[in-house]
Amino acid sequence: MKKTKDKSLDRRKFLLRSGLAVASVPFLPISCQQTAKKSEEESNENAFEFAFLTDIHIKPEMNAPKGFQMAINKVNELNPDFVITGGDLVYDVMRGNYEKSESLFNLYKDMCKGFEMPVYNCIGNHDLFGIYEESPEDENHPDYKYGMWERHFGDTYYSFDHKGWHFITLNSLDVTENKRYKGAFHKEQLQWLAEDLNTVDKSTPIVITTHIPMMCTYAQLNGSEGSRTVSNGFEVFKMLEGYNLKLVLQGHIHWKEYGFVNDRFQFLTGGSIAGNGWKGRRHNTKEGFMKIRVAGDDFSWEYIDHGWENERLKLGNKETV
Ligand SMILES: [Fe+2]
Repeated sequence: MKKTKDKSLDRRKFLLRSGLAVASVPFLPISCQQTAKKSEEESNENAFEFAFLTDIHIKPEMNAPKGFQMAINKVNELNPDFVITGGDLVYDVMRGNYEKSESLFNLYKDMCKGFEMPVYNCIGNHDLFGIYEESPEDENHPDYKYGMWERHFGDTYYSFDHKGWHFITLNSLDVTENKRYKGAFHKEQLQWLAEDLNTVDKSTPIVITTHIPMMCTYAQLNGSEGSRTVSNGFEVFKMLEGYNLKLVLQGHIHWKEYGFVNDRFQFLTGGSIAGNGWKGRRHNTKEGFMKIRVAGDDFSWEYIDHGWENERLKLGNKETV
């Protein structure tokens, strides 16, 4: 089948980690204590952490490499099993200019070598090569739209498994007739997703990553700026009915949002590494990333401040909200 692949095999440097100590369970009969202890041990055996970093917007200016390096250092210190990114890896390639665009992706890739664990990338709108009207390139360029990203990172949608959980990264971008980006899951990808889900047991916990959110209250809160979501996200949710969808990870908005929908699944919009173009907070959300801890069939999350706000203020970058 098409690209249900584990592209990390050659990059996998998973660190073997021991289970956490088992807490005692007082005031229970011994048999209950043993059962509780056993299930806790089982879920701790498979417990793991991963980091979700989104909207990195790397560029040579504005001390961006210094800020991204601080995030990389913080991730390495936390030592998760792997990193998932949420798109907008670079800023930006939508307006074309091959040499500059190529140098941005190379800068991102070179910096990512600093991560001491595998990195699973997602495509964002700023990563779509040459799609804007003002671009000197057109759709005949081999790197047009997804081409440059694919050449650097491989498929824009794929899945992998880790310790009993199934991770799906989706490509939430397409281009309009008037040469702007739009949030949509194209048909070919939905066909692939159906095939991918056919291989997944209904009880397997699933995490979906998308750059453009499938769930977001931004438009309800801010009105005038319109929808910030994928137009056909409902098709994906429909396909996932009956599956054990646990979490949807999202980028794009540069803010932090958490939701738990109808006791069915949770979603997290993961702030951003770049904030407001490296100048300060966007929507008053501090620059940072998500650390997600998985244990058994459940997870918890924490937004990690990697210290860039203090550093950029020290460097004199203007604070904006
Ligand atoms: Fe972004």
